[in-house]
Amino acid sequence: MPATDAGPAASIRPLKAREFAQIRQLAYETFGLDLRAGKEALVSARLGKHMRESGCGSFDEYYRHVVEDPTGEALVTLIDALTTNHTSFFREPAHFDFLRASVLPQWKDRRSVAVWSAACSTGEEPYSIAMCLLGELGPFASGMVRILATDISTRVLAQAKRGIYPAERFEGLPSAQFRKFWLRGERDWAGWYRAKKELRALVEFRRLNLLESLSQAGVFPLIFCRNVMIYFDKPTQQQVVQRLGECLEPGGYLFIGHAESLNGIRHGLEYVRPAVYRKASQGEREKGRREPC
Ligand SMILES: C[S@@+](CC[C@H](N)C(=O)[O-])C[C@H]1O[C@@H](n2cnc3c(N)ncnc32)[C@H](O)[C@@H]1O
Repeated sequence: MPATDAGPAASIRPLKAREFAQIRQLAYETFGLDLRAGKEALVSARLGKHMRESGCGSFDEYYRHVVEDPTGEALVTLIDALTTNHTSFFREPAHFDFLRASVLPQWKDRRSVAVWSAACSTGEEPYSIAMCLLGELGPFASGMVRILATDISTRVLAQAKRGIYPAERFEGLPSAQFRKFWLRGERDWAGWYRAKKELRALVEFRRLNLLESLSQAGVFPLIFCRNVMIYFDKPTQQQVVQRLGECLEPGGYLFIGHAESLNGIRHGLEYVRPAVYRKASQGEREKGRREPC
């Protein structure tokens, strides 16, 4: 029986141990999400709403609805409920300072540059990268830069592709940057801003699960993979970091979230500074092979 009319608190009951174990296993196998014991109350609260919205009257009905949905949308709704999509423009500004001061000068002789934002959420991260590169490289960026922005959630990707944000998302952004890259909405859209065409043209959005093969993404001199590995357990982090390393060019950089750590993970990358890692260049690798250990 659909339970959509039940009051908010009425149909939220704690998940039973078996139910929590089922959700935990599903989230781990499909998204790498590590739901530790102790999270039962949080998961119950978050799933209660989705169970009601999907019209399912029982946990078993909801679980079947999620695993049998051929579109995969029910699974995406589940992951959205269990993770956070929190992000912001120029989040963790130290990465953008490092990009401007240390990475861009190394790219001065390149004819093309591709950057991957590997868990881009609603798009603020890839648009920040695009603003940074357009700001520094000027109009040349349009011809030489490509930003691949991926996420597992089709919901956040749809928002990101629209490139429309409320004014408060831009608080703290220098006004020159704001005017240069964003169009102010009028009438019904007053209080909203849309990314200008040249900004949107740099970014390609695509769905990609970090647990699946990453070779389809390509090879990059810079990968942002920030604030997503925090959801994974060590073995999953190990797999993901190793595969991300394979997607880095020699001499390329990996940025992770400042609250994340690669401690205890074999990654073969050089630690550069907090939340910044670098893959050895070809020359450095050859030298390493020649030097006696
Ligand atoms: C907290 S946001 C991080 C956004 C941005 N990178 C930042 O640091 O501001 C985490 C994102 O990771 C995505 N995500 C979670 N599991 C994923 C997976 N297995 N593969 C790809 N993206 C995933 C979520 O959908 C969410 O949008």
